[in-house]
Amino acid sequence: MPILQTLDDLKSYPFSAYDGPQKVLMVKPDFYKVSYQINPHMADETGALPQVDEKRALFQWEKLKNKFEEFGLKVFVIPGQEDLPDMVFAANQVLPLDSKHVLLSKMAHDERKGEVAFFGDFFEHHGISTTELPEEVEKFEGTGDALWHYGMDLLWCGHGFRTDMKAIEFLADTLGLAVAPLELVDESFYHLDTCMCILNSRTVAWTPKAFSEESQKLIDGFFPQTIEIPYEEAKETLACNSFSVDGKNVIIPQGAKTLKEKLPNHNFIPHEKDVGEFHKAGGSVFCMKLAFF
Ligand code: ARG
Repeated sequence: MPILQTLDDLKSYPFSAYDGPQKVLMVKPDFYKVSYQINPHMADETGALPQVDEKRALFQWEKLKNKFEEFGLKVFVIPGQEDLPDMVFAANQVLPLDSKHVLLSKMAHDERKGEVAFFGDFFEHHGISTTELPEEVEKFEGTGDALWHYGMDLLWCGHGFRTDMKAIEFLADTLGLAVAPLELVDESFYHLDTCMCILNSRTVAWTPKAFSEESQKLIDGFFPQTIEIPYEEAKETLACNSFSVDGKNVIIPQGAKTLKEKLPNHNFIPHEKDVGEFHKAGGSVFCMKLAFF
């Protein structure tokens, strides 16, 4: 499958309908804390790491889990592991391909590499087979960077910080997926899910400055409806790390003011959740779960 690089490629590609994932996997924040810095959110100007309030983190995590369940999602939970504090960000360790296959990530940082095997075990145990990336791919961080278009067999894939072009080539050439690459250019938006949220098949929320100019044109040209989140808001509140549960109800991080105001204009219902303890590590609603088929 060719990589879909241009707006023409994207507009002329015969996409098929593809039902989105209905199940959710979460990792209990048993060992969650900030003990190293691998993205700009994880330290203040002096380089000091934030202290996590463990009780509050667990409370916020449970509230989010309840919210997923309220919307009828089946939530699976695996325990956290000592010395893998970021494992709670379950969006990153695999990319679900369909109900029988997941692709295992290659985490960009050594601190997170150990997480992947626990996800591999979970899927194998559930009869879902796992595929490894080849040698030449150095990094790929699952649904942190690879986002399924809503209801369509198109995969948007961010690259630059945590995922390399070789990964995108593998997705297209070997797995035969229709992939549209998007270049990320701002460190604060190190994963695609920090700057782009696909709300339904026609609508995206995004913060344009996180992308190269070419990628901005691709997003702007492809989606008939775009909700622009101001740069500072996207950075401070992780507004784009929201989750459109069913193309209507959208769980958003608390404080994402513009997003909350604009969603109803496009017929979406915002549901605000406080996951502030997880913002200390640079993650929010979307990346605290893995949606799988
Ligand atoms: N501290 C984690 C990291 O830097 C946060 C990951 C958040 N995940 C996400 N998909 N945005 O890897």
